[in-house]
Amino acid sequence: MNCEWKDRRVTVKVPASTANLGPGFDTLGMALSLYSWIEMSAAEQTSFRFYGGHMEGLPQDKTNLIYQIAQIVFEEAGVSVPELDIAMYSDIPLARGLGSSATAIIGALAAANALIGSPLTEDRLFQIATKLEGHPDNVGASLFGGIVVSAWDGERAEYVRLVPPPKLETLVAIPSFQLSTSKARHALPAQLALADAVFNVGSSSLLVAAFATGRLDLIRHAMRDRIHQPYRAPLIPGMSAILEEAAEYGALGAALSGAGPTLIAFVEQGSPDSQRLERFLLETLGKEGIQAETLWLKPAEEGPVIQIEQVGQPSTFMDRIKGEV
Ligand code: HSE
Repeated sequence: MNCEWKDRRVTVKVPASTANLGPGFDTLGMALSLYSWIEMSAAEQTSFRFYGGHMEGLPQDKTNLIYQIAQIVFEEAGVSVPELDIAMYSDIPLARGLGSSATAIIGALAAANALIGSPLTEDRLFQIATKLEGHPDNVGASLFGGIVVSAWDGERAEYVRLVPPPKLETLVAIPSFQLSTSKARHALPAQLALADAVFNVGSSSLLVAAFATGRLDLIRHAMRDRIHQPYRAPLIPGMSAILEEAAEYGALGAALSGAGPTLIAFVEQGSPDSQRLERFLLETLGKEGIQAETLWLKPAEEGPVIQIEQVGQPSTFMDRIKGEV
């Protein structure tokens, strides 16, 4: 290798995300303050180091998603970097509806692009990520941070990023079981009644307007959905009761997070009901025999945070991200 990037090491921190926000199926996303870190450098031989408990069973050869996505960037930029050293640590549980695959896609794109001097624009990364994921909601949120409203026609995705209302926070209840996105998508009907489509256009539009103007009082009304959550409810026992009753326990609104099984409640910061709401979520799932972990998360304002160093510093990957984990 004889390139300026051969001694470069890139570390990228990427936020998780919640998609749909109720009615905005495949359209709305919000970045959350839960993160993955990916580190990448050119190497003599490809190797992988995975840290933390959420990555068991991921391939450690060139079939690995991060490796393959990096190669897409290099190919598009006309650069050859066949061998990579890749390290990853994640606090985002897999297959729970918190966008773990989207963070891996965005982390890999951002790291590979930064490694070779950022020849691809952010828009180009968004287009590639949307095509890879099949919808723009999670990848848009992880790439741009904040609340992302996007529309994809199968060719191009357009988006507008909104700054989340400052007093907004979220409570997620993460069931201990995994639910694959493909299984949760197979539960959906091929066709919808016009009245249900109209209901969702209204709700989703109102929700975007409520976020844009800080009308937290409208969220409860605007988060209702008739096109995906009712069909997915049998896969997540307890979900219907949580969506119907969360507002009585102090939530501004509640939704299935992405394709589930995580449930997300939006809450106004400083709410006196926060412990009552947390108990309600855990007890409702518990009654169905579902163990769950709760986390309070803020909307994440930023997309990937990129750090570039020279290879050969004495610190380890975990040292470099320590303090944040
Ligand atoms: N919008 C997607 C869905 C998010 O609900 O299936 C999950 O990737």
